[in-house]
Amino acid sequence: MQTQQTFLQLRSHLEKTIVGQSHLLDRLLIGVLSGGHVLLEGLPGLAKTTAVTALASGIHASFQRIQFTPDLMPGDLTGSDIFDPKDSAFHFVAGPLFHELVLADEINRAPPKVQSALLEAMQEHQVTVGGVTRPLPDLFMVLATQNPLEQSGTYPLPEAQLDRFLLHVVLDYPTPEDELLILKRDRQHHFGTDHDEVDTPLKPETVLTARREVAEIHVEEVLEKYIVQLIGATRHLSDIDEQWADYLRAGASPRASIALLRASSALAYIRGRDYVIPEDIVEIAPDVLRHRISLAHGARVAGITADSIIARIIAEVPVP
Ligand SMILES: Nc1ncnc2c1ncn2[C@@H]1O[C@H](COP(=O)(O)OP(=O)(O)OP(=O)(O)O)[C@@H](O)[C@H]1O
Ligand SMILES: [Mg+2]
Repeated sequence: MQTQQTFLQLRSHLEKTIVGQSHLLDRLLIGVLSGGHVLLEGLPGLAKTTAVTALASGIHASFQRIQFTPDLMPGDLTGSDIFDPKDSAFHFVAGPLFHELVLADEINRAPPKVQSALLEAMQEHQVTVGGVTRPLPDLFMVLATQNPLEQSGTYPLPEAQLDRFLLHVVLDYPTPEDELLILKRDRQHHFGTDHDEVDTPLKPETVLTARREVAEIHVEEVLEKYIVQLIGATRHLSDIDEQWADYLRAGASPRASIALLRASSALAYIRGRDYVIPEDIVEIAPDVLRHRISLAHGARVAGITADSIIARIIAEVPVP
């Protein structure tokens, strides 16, 4: 836990740009601490892009924003072999995926081929072009944004690929108090009256050390069993409610159990503990599970959402 204080400077850095949204800030830190990818979903103007850009400026790492559009090609992400007439040979020119922090903005506006190039890199931590496989940086992390309203002309991410995201975070409107502060801050910014002292960005080694400390966080066996029970419950919804028998297409995979354990450990770490408590698991479970429960059409018709199912599972499975 020696690095915890230093690591948390990243949160203070984010708070200088982002008003409120502490739910979001915690989850960005959890992503960084677990080396996991984060999908941010929210209506336009809720500071998704601003938050990710602020995160990138708080870590001394290379950062690339990729605006996903319908005409994007997989090679625009991975890079490609380009012919050089000088030596009559092909040379690889790396694409934007070869950065440490990658913002995939409006991920559902690019066609499936492009999405799968990204998701493959996320899972394999490497990129293959022209038969040659190249590793991505240690710190490599994708932050993707999507807008829940845009339906026409968008390509919803396939469920199997959504599983690659550690967390699926849904943003909410700011409180009126926070919104007033947002206005004030925007004016200060406009008139150049904000004289924030410049932060020193975190060194990549600090992030990697913090990750190792998170991996050492103590998790009692009863809590591991609790995680397995929660994940198991997503696969047998009819045990919880007979009416739900036909609503499920697929429950959460073992990757979800691993994700829940890692994310809970990272949450414990940012709360200053070197051990996980049940409340950590309960708090982060919705963000770990929201995108991993695949519902049949009937569920949507009945107004049952992944979130309502998760809430019910958490209420039913006894907390140790
Ligand atoms: N909580 C907040 N703190 C500080 N600024 C905020 C906050 N919420 C919104 N803003 C401001 O609102 C504006 C819009 O933010 P941003 O462009 O990041 O939104 P977005 O979620 O990426 O939107 P879109 O989905 O349209 O891309 C920015 O000027 C940003 O500073
Ligand atoms: Mg944006």
